[in-house]
Amino acid sequence: MSWQQQRAQRLGYLALNVTDMDASLAFWTQAVQLEISERREHRVFLRGGMQHHWLSLQEASEPGLARVGIEVANLEILTAIEHALTSAGISVESGNGLKDDAVLHYLRFNDPAGNPLELYADMVSMATPPQPTSVTLLEIQHAVLAVDNLNDASEFYTHMLGMRISDWIGETMFFAHFGNGWHHGLGLGKMPDQQQGLHHVCFQPPDLDNVMRARARVRKLGYEITLDLLRHGPSGSVGFYFLGPDGVAEMSFGARQFGEDEEFRPRRLAMSPETIDVWQTGLSDSELSIVSELRSIKG
Ligand SMILES: [Fe+2]
Repeated sequence: MSWQQQRAQRLGYLALNVTDMDASLAFWTQAVQLEISERREHRVFLRGGMQHHWLSLQEASEPGLARVGIEVANLEILTAIEHALTSAGISVESGNGLKDDAVLHYLRFNDPAGNPLELYADMVSMATPPQPTSVTLLEIQHAVLAVDNLNDASEFYTHMLGMRISDWIGETMFFAHFGNGWHHGLGLGKMPDQQQGLHHVCFQPPDLDNVMRARARVRKLGYEITLDLLRHGPSGSVGFYFLGPDGVAEMSFGARQFGEDEEFRPRRLAMSPETIDVWQTGLSDSELSIVSELRSIKG
């Protein structure tokens, strides 16, 4: 099996340590509209689809990322990736997590920056779809993680997990996709104040109406919108970002999806306001200078 076939399939879930379970649950169930699938002592699982969970919240003394769960298609691929990781000298814990974590076979290890990852095949499924009040979600689509070295991260995620790089953004980050093809299942970036850990997680509704209903809920509930409606240049998605007790979440739809064998070359995009939001085109100071000049003439 070549490394291209050792391919992780999709972002499956995030496990977060939380210090105030009630505040966290209010945010994830009310603002994001995830549904509680299982409650245990000091731990709650939440879902947005048929999978047992997209989020696992664990009460802890310190908040933060406990694990990024990544699904692989079958046990054969999981075994191949385990071999690649151990051959590269990476310490891997493998096991069966059906009872404790609702995943069957798993591998747990850290990326070069120290981000805790889990690959698994397979997760427990629920019998019926979730019943959200007003916002339908298709996917937990991507997470962006902080790393300390971009070259180490790109080498690791492409060679060990079989991810393909979609775009580089300046010298600061890259987006990479899993087998499910969404423009980025993971973004890895150098952050000013973070060497590792979660930057944000994105959930994908099917259309603009669902994004706007989510935005209306977030506003009504009083959570801070940290970046309002925008269209990302790299993926083409339309969405917004908002802040909860466990960090920033994003709701966006319409991201580019790569086909299984689609030929492409990762682009090198400039880190600019237009890359972050294509609707910012034409708003630079020089482009708007004639307006300021006219205003100053009119006094
Ligand atoms: Fe994002």
